[in-house]
Amino acid sequence: MEVAALGALTLLLGALVILVALALGKRKDEIREENEPATESVAESSVGKSSASKKQKQEKQRSRKDKPSQHSFSHPLLASSLKGHSGNVTCLDFSSNGKYLASCADDRTVRIWSTKDFLEREHKCLRANVELDHALLVRFSPDSRAFITWLANGDTIRIFKMFKKDDSTLSFKVAAEDFSQKHKASILNIGIAETGKFIMSASTDTTIHIWDLKGELLATINTNQMTNSYAMISPCGRFVAACGFTPDVKVWEVCFGKAGEFKEVTRAFDLKGHSAGVHAFAFSNNSHRMVTVSKDGTWKLWNTDVEYKKQQDPYLLKTVPCASSEGSRVALSPDGRVVAISDGSNLALYNAASGELEEELRSVHSEDITDLRFDINGRFLVSSGDKAIRVFHNTPGYRAAIRDMQDMLKKAQNEAMKQRLQQQITEAQSALDTVLSAPIH
Ligand SMILES: *[C@@H]1O[C@H](CO)[C@@H](O)[C@H](O)[C@H]1NC(C)=O
Ligand SMILES: *[C@@H]1O[C@H](CO)[C@@H](O)[C@H](O)[C@H]1NC(C)=O
Repeated sequence: MEVAALGALTLLLGALVILVALALGKRKDEIREENEPATESVAESSVGKSSASKKQKQEKQRSRKDKPSQHSFSHPLLASSLKGHSGNVTCLDFSSNGKYLASCADDRTVRIWSTKDFLEREHKCLRANVELDHALLVRFSPDSRAFITWLANGDTIRIFKMFKKDDSTLSFKVAAEDFSQKHKASILNIGIAETGKFIMSASTDTTIHIWDLKGELLATINTNQMTNSYAMISPCGRFVAACGFTPDVKVWEVCFGKAGEFKEVTRAFDLKGHSAGVHAFAFSNNSHRMVTVSKDGTWKLWNTDVEYKKQQDPYLLKTVPCASSEGSRVALSPDGRVVAISDGSNLALYNAASGELEEELRSVHSEDITDLRFDINGRFLVSSGDKAIRVFHNTPGYRAAIRDMQDMLKKAQNEAMKQRLQQQITEAQSALDTVLSAPIH
């Protein structure tokens, strides 16, 4: 048992070392100028092409003339700043194939960034135009071949499909019809289940709508929380969770029959423990851990790997004091090892197991942080809060992985295994040191 676990862990560390080495191998030595514009490959969506491109030219000219002074920020953990949007970025999402980061802003565009460029000097992005409107939220479909947006003026969901043109560049096509308008209050979040079975939209009143992929309303959840402050679909695609004015985070299961037909939404479990309203929450990638951040001045880590149908309740693993405020965002690294919390334009990174505050980043953006996400491999943390997207090295994640290896080393019986672990710890440590001393792009 122990040997098997050790083997798996050794593999995992090996993978980490390779990832870091790959990342570093790709680096160039030049430092990118703060104000250098991103390289942009234009990909127009198929509708209203000519009038839109004219407007863009005008907008571009305007934005060149009265370019506001840029907020400057530097930090050893900053891997790069992605620049391209001419408006405030409101939402970020990684595709589940790990290749893309989507961002949307009030500049009427959604941009698709290539994650493999994060450590390069140039950050190419593709642009999808949101005609006569702008997207407040963007989420990739599970197959990474489409994304859904929430239209700020249209107050509903629009689907964009991504396809490869003959010359193998990506382009975008808007689905025939937008969803119907159903929400009566401001939107909080949208999502597509990883199972591909449903879409969710949640607003600041107590409403969550569950839709099929064609835009038929399947169910409406009343969260009974006075107001909602956040809601999302779990990464496993089984649950929808919501928090708000009340201290409890509520979790529902969206149930489908054997033939894939929608059945019902049922209450699954609650996270009970906070003493005041909850600002936001996040899941680890297998949905086995959740982190919540509350007005009561703490974040809490929960084990949600339970069989609620057998009356098992999720249980509290950790409570840690932290700074937070209305609009705080929280992210949990895919492996559940690192908790990131925003408070206004500041960012704090914690070790999830020990609760230790590992990094504090101040004034990361010129405005409040609007979104916070780890990439699917847990190498990077990205944030938005003005026109730029900040990409940070997840060094607390590397350190936590190394610490776990060191614990394994202490328990290891076999001499060969010990040597191998020791060597991998040394390699990981030197890779981490290189990340920290590398130039910012
Ligand atoms: C971005 O947000 C700030 C503060 O809300 C605002 O002053 C600024 O005008 C916004 N920029 C754009 C381009 O909308
Ligand atoms: C979760 O992330 C870890 C670490 O990045 C990875 O090894 C694992 O395969 C991921 N699991 C899922 C279900 O995506």
